[in-house]
Amino acid sequence: MSLSLKSIGSWSILMLMLMQFIPLKRINPPAVSDIQTPTVIKSSLKKACYDCHSNETRWTGIAYIAPISWLLSSTVSSGRNVLNYSVWNKQSSTKKAQIRRVIAQGSMHQRLYYTWNPDMQLTDQETKKLLRWLND
Ligand code: HEC
Repeated sequence: MSLSLKSIGSWSILMLMLMQFIPLKRINPPAVSDIQTPTVIKSSLKKACYDCHSNETRWTGIAYIAPISWLLSSTVSSGRNVLNYSVWNKQSSTKKAQIRRVIAQGSMHQRLYYTWNPDMQLTDQETKKLLRWLND
């Protein structure tokens, strides 16, 4: 049997179609103890971090198409595992220092996400305010 380009193409399309039926957990459990911050701080965190570090993930269109959906869903679950603003009472006391380090690094953290969603990146002003708040 020889595999022509055409048959590889058709098999790939079939595989992609079948992948869409594999169920995924794209759920947002309730935010039981959301972190308490001033409004400006909260809106920055919501913009730049909440998609992966809270139970308020914005699952957009692309999040429903395999295999991208698999990547997103696993990124969100590992993100929530290390840090979840929605269950702030369960986070260890060192979390604030870690957050500070990540914010100081800027867009190096999750570069792919910020390249894809440039609007979600923190402005210099927002970064400054966050760092000041995290220092308190
Ligand atoms: C696209 C998803 C995504 C976004 C957006 C995101 N993170 Fe993360 N973050 C992750 C994942 C996945 C991990 C765990 C694996 C790793 O370290 O890369 C993580 C790990 C972390 C950690 C713990 C590990 C470390 O490096 O100290 C902190 C703290 C953190 N993120 C803070 C933030 C903050 C603050 C923001 C917003 C400015 C943010 N993250 C935005 C996905 C994300």
